[in-house]
Amino acid sequence: MLIDTHVHLNSNKFKDNVDEVIKRALANDVKVMIVVGYDKQTNLKAISLAEQYSFIYATVGFHPTEAKNIKQEDYELLVKQLKHKKVVGVGECGLDFYWDKEFINEQIDVFKKQIEISLELDLPLAIHMRDASEATYNVLSEYAGLKGIMHCYSGSAEMVPLFIDLGLHISLGGPVTFKNGHKPKAVAKIVPLNKLLIETDSPYLSPHPYRGKTNEPFRVKLVAEEIARLRDISYNQIAEITTKNAIKLFNLKELL
Ligand code: NI
Repeated sequence: MLIDTHVHLNSNKFKDNVDEVIKRALANDVKVMIVVGYDKQTNLKAISLAEQYSFIYATVGFHPTEAKNIKQEDYELLVKQLKHKKVVGVGECGLDFYWDKEFINEQIDVFKKQIEISLELDLPLAIHMRDASEATYNVLSEYAGLKGIMHCYSGSAEMVPLFIDLGLHISLGGPVTFKNGHKPKAVAKIVPLNKLLIETDSPYLSPHPYRGKTNEPFRVKLVAEEIARLRDISYNQIAEITTKNAIKLFNLKELL
């Protein structure tokens, strides 16, 4: 069994075929999916999918590229949504200096606010970090007792121990399978197995040989296979340990 710990089945890309996409995932041993919200609309959609399917859980939060639009009352709704029994994490949130260099202060404020909410409610963070490794680390390191995921981690192997020391997990996705994915391959080799998670980030980042195509959760298997190959351990071991890690981190009580 596999768990896709970060998938956007709430994206408009899946509006016409989400049931088929879910069926294909289940048929390929992906038995649990964490649907990640990134703005007000997709947060609602993530919750509605989680209400509809027993094996889907949701996280809700505000993506850094949304930061400039977030108002005080939006956090009040977020906290309310985070108390829903199928909502298991805060995010995705974080810093993205690739898509947005204009609203960096707003990004940092919105990220901090969500970190504080996650600590208050004792929920894991789904952290997005793009071209912002140092800034993300600096913000996170102001806090103690963190838990969460560096989602589709694109930082260096050297920084992995720093994020782990903060209490975070490292999740790898499609880029670990790319021929030129030197950085994530180096990361895959050194992440402690008890801190490793896998994901697709569908509809984005389709693994090799589907790079550039709309991604789907069933392809998380390709991610697990590549990590197993890089570490020279069995696919079953990677499947088992990443599933166990996800169940524990997201406190999926029904599966414990
Ligand atoms: Ni994402």
